[in-house]
Amino acid sequence: MKRLVLAYSGGLDTSVAIRWLQEHKGYEVVACAVDVGQAAPGEMDRIRRRALDCGAVEAVVVDARDEFADDFVAAAIRTNALYMGKYPLVSSLSRPLITRHLVRLARETGAGAIGHGCTGKGNDQARFEVTAMAIAPDLVVEAPIREWGLSRDAAIAWAEERGIPIPVKKSSPYSFDENLWGRTAECGILEDPWASPPEEVFARSAALADTPDQPEELTLTFEQGLPVAVDGRKLELAALVAEVDRRAGAHGVGRIDMIEDRLVGIKSREIYECPGAITLLTAHRDLEDLCLEQELAQEKRSLEGRWAQLVYNGLWYTPLKRALDAFVGESQRVVDGEVRMRLFKGSASVAGRRSPLGLYDHDLATYDAADQFDQTQAEGFVKLWGLPTKVWAKRQGQLHEGRLHD
Ligand code: ARG
Repeated sequence: MKRLVLAYSGGLDTSVAIRWLQEHKGYEVVACAVDVGQAAPGEMDRIRRRALDCGAVEAVVVDARDEFADDFVAAAIRTNALYMGKYPLVSSLSRPLITRHLVRLARETGAGAIGHGCTGKGNDQARFEVTAMAIAPDLVVEAPIREWGLSRDAAIAWAEERGIPIPVKKSSPYSFDENLWGRTAECGILEDPWASPPEEVFARSAALADTPDQPEELTLTFEQGLPVAVDGRKLELAALVAEVDRRAGAHGVGRIDMIEDRLVGIKSREIYECPGAITLLTAHRDLEDLCLEQELAQEKRSLEGRWAQLVYNGLWYTPLKRALDAFVGESQRVVDGEVRMRLFKGSASVAGRRSPLGLYDHDLATYDAADQFDQTQAEGFVKLWGLPTKVWAKRQGQLHEGRLHD
C-alpha cells in the first residue's frame, strides 16, 4: 500500500482524513503531530492515541518547541516581522516547520506523499505546499479537506457511519490555531467585521476589566537581537517567550483585531492574541533605534515588511527570504542591551532602554552645560542642506505655484 504522512492536529477534519485517505486514495497513513507550543501538558499523547484509534498505521509526536523558537520565532524577532504592520505571523511561521517534519518522517518511513488538512480558502495550504516544493519536490502532496469539500455535519455523519471515534467536543463555531508565538481565531460571529469579538474567543490575554490596576515592569536583555533574559534571569528562547507571553497576557496585552489580505485574494477578519510577541517586538524595535546607525535602520525598516509578506505568503524557503535573512543577521550584531517594558491595561510600552553599544551620546544630545555639539557648524550645514530647494524656488517656484493655482 502507498504511504502518506499526514499533519495531524487531533481535530475533527484531520481525524476523518485518515480514513478518507485510505478509502479514496489508497494510502496507509502515518500521523504526525507537531508540538509548537499549542498543547497543554499530556495533550500531545492523547492526540497520538487518537490518531491510532482513527486508523493511522503509525502516529508520531514531535516536540518541536525549541526548534520553532530558535529557527522561526528568532528570525521573526530579529526582523520585527508584522504582516500588514500588525500580524506577528503566528501560523505562517509554524507551517514550514511542520512541513519539514512531514518530509523527514516521509523519508524515514518510506512514504511517497505528505498531506495537510487545509481548506482551499486559506494561506496555510500555500505554506505547506510551497515549502514541500522547495525541500522535497519529489513528494506528492494530498489535501483531503480541500478535495472532499465536506461540511462539518457531513464529516461527522461520514465518520459515524464507519465507527471512527472522532473527537466529539462540543461544537465550537470558531476555528483556532495556536503556538508559542500566539493564537489565532476565525469563523462564527468573527466573520462580521463590525461585531466586537466575544470574550469567549480569547485564551491568552485577560479582558481589560480583569487586568491589574498596577503596572508591572519587565526587563528584557537582548544579545545580537535576541532576547536572552527576563529580569536578569537567563532563559532559553522558547521558555522566555512563554514567560513574557504569560506576564503580558495577564495585563491584556497583544489583542489584535484586523482585516487581513489573504494570498488567495480574500479579505478576512482576524482576531489574534500575541501578548509575548507584541511585547518582545516592541522592545526589540526600540533597542534597534538605539543601536542601529540611521541609514542601516531606515533600510532595515523598508525590508521588514517585505520579509513578513514573503513568510505570510508561504515563501520561507526562497532565495529572497534567505538574502534578507543575511542582511538582517548582519544588522543584529550590535543589537545588545536591555529594555524596560511596562505592562499596563492592554499595552506594553517601553519605559527605558540602555546598551553598551548604543549610539545615543548624551554629550551630543543634551541641552545642559555638558553640551559638546558645535552649533556654529549648524548654520553652514543648514544653508547647504537647503541649497537645492533655494535654487528651485528661485527659478521654478513661481511657475509651480502659478500652475497649482490655475
Ligand atoms: N490568517 C492567519 C494566517 O493566515 C491565521 C490562519 C490560521 N490557520 C488556521 N488553520 N486556523 O496566518
